Amino acid sequence: MANLVVVGTQWGDEGKGKFVDILSERADTIVRFQGGHNAGHTIKVGSTTYKLSLLPSGIIRENKTVVIGNGVVLDPWKLMEEIRLIESMGIKIKDRLMIADNIPLILQYHRELDLDREQEAGEDKIGTTGRGIGPAYEDKVGRRAIRSGDLLKDDEHIRARLQIALKHHNKLRNYPVNENWTFEQIKDIAKEIIPYIKPVWKHLHTLMEENKDMLFEGAQGSSLDVDWGTYPFVTSSNTIAGMASIGTGVPHNKITNVLGITKAYTTRVGEGPMKTELFDDIGKHLADMGKEKGTVTGRGRRCGWFDATQVRKTCMLNGVTGIALTKIDVLDELETIKIYNGEGYEEHKGWLSSTAGLTQHEDLPNEAKAYIKRIEELVGVEVVLISTGPDREDTITLKDPFN
Ligand code: GDP
Ligand code: IMO
Ligand code: MG
Repeated sequence: MANLVVVGTQWGDEGKGKFVDILSERADTIVRFQGGHNAGHTIKVGSTTYKLSLLPSGIIRENKTVVIGNGVVLDPWKLMEEIRLIESMGIKIKDRLMIADNIPLILQYHRELDLDREQEAGEDKIGTTGRGIGPAYEDKVGRRAIRSGDLLKDDEHIRARLQIALKHHNKLRNYPVNENWTFEQIKDIAKEIIPYIKPVWKHLHTLMEENKDMLFEGAQGSSLDVDWGTYPFVTSSNTIAGMASIGTGVPHNKITNVLGITKAYTTRVGEGPMKTELFDDIGKHLADMGKEKGTVTGRGRRCGWFDATQVRKTCMLNGVTGIALTKIDVLDELETIKIYNGEGYEEHKGWLSSTAGLTQHEDLPNEAKAYIKRIEELVGVEVVLISTGPDREDTITLKDPFN
């Protein structure tokens, strides 16, 4: 049995979706354990591009089971929208998706609160995705969330849970939430998602007894973790590998390996500090070459040099056992490439040739090999996979990340 967690080691958008898709081939079940539809994971298979926010990336492979764990906050309308979209692309989802019965739901009042706050914050805004993620996690910790399992109970129970939530939310708003309308909305969507709601922790434990391999798909990045990130400019969940246990019910000592998805430079969406940000033509070049535009909000991603201190720390926090270094091809045209090493910037000679689509390590230019080696040295973890383009095939495999 090998259970592998895939996490982002920077500020998200490192290429987690691509690698979860690739590694799904090896796993029986693919599990999301935190975050919500603030995530945007892009998977390219031939001429088809899939953009997933809630469904685990393993959904693309028809024979796999996918699970949304309790650590996630779930907008049931968005989930159904995504299910319909992916089904319209020819992928069957029925009988392959399970949703935990203890997931806090994101409702319209969470979305409204998120957007209101951002607007009112002005200069102090976080730059959230506006999806209601933060307010939904607040309700979870505040013990007033309506959870997936509540939908399985009678109307009286749901109504009572809603009243508790609204007692709080109505104090935060200019006008009260329409209780009856919200109740009807919940009842409506419940019909659609109830078939997927299961005690998934039991299912995961059965898989472990059968020695099946599980793949845990992280969302966001470690520097967006609510405890360990650049607080307060963070998301509202724990994004690091430890959350894979809490957010699914799989005990931490059953999780054997952690793959840290790491971009060969740095990007960030939203507000907050970014040590190596570039405001010049090189920053623009990285954004253009890397097509650095957010999948969820369409915002441009801020770009900068690789920050080795950031990734060294996040690898330690996650217990990363191997790195998948992505988007190396985006650096192809740069004469000089810099790395922040904690004391200052070190300069590396660029390779000025195309690495796009390479699949063999020996075909990489020497300068690229040296750059990757230096990252390994500074970060203290081995690079086991190198990504040279968005497609499944654009990958150099050095070691099996499951072992
Ligand atoms: P995630 O949120 O970590 O799953 O990453 P995103 O999907 O939001 O962003 C990564 C983007 O880079 C996607 O559009 C991928 O298709 C693309 N991508 C992934 N790996 C590579 C790579 O090695 N080279 C290039 N050029 N693009 C890549
Ligand atoms: P994936 O999974 C990049 C950022 C937002 C904002 C902050 C808080 O695609 O890597 P939130 O809506 O979560 O309260 O916003 O977190 N953020 C992400 N940035 N990739 C993501 O996910 C992100 N999810 C949230 O831009 O700065
Ligand atoms: Mg993304």
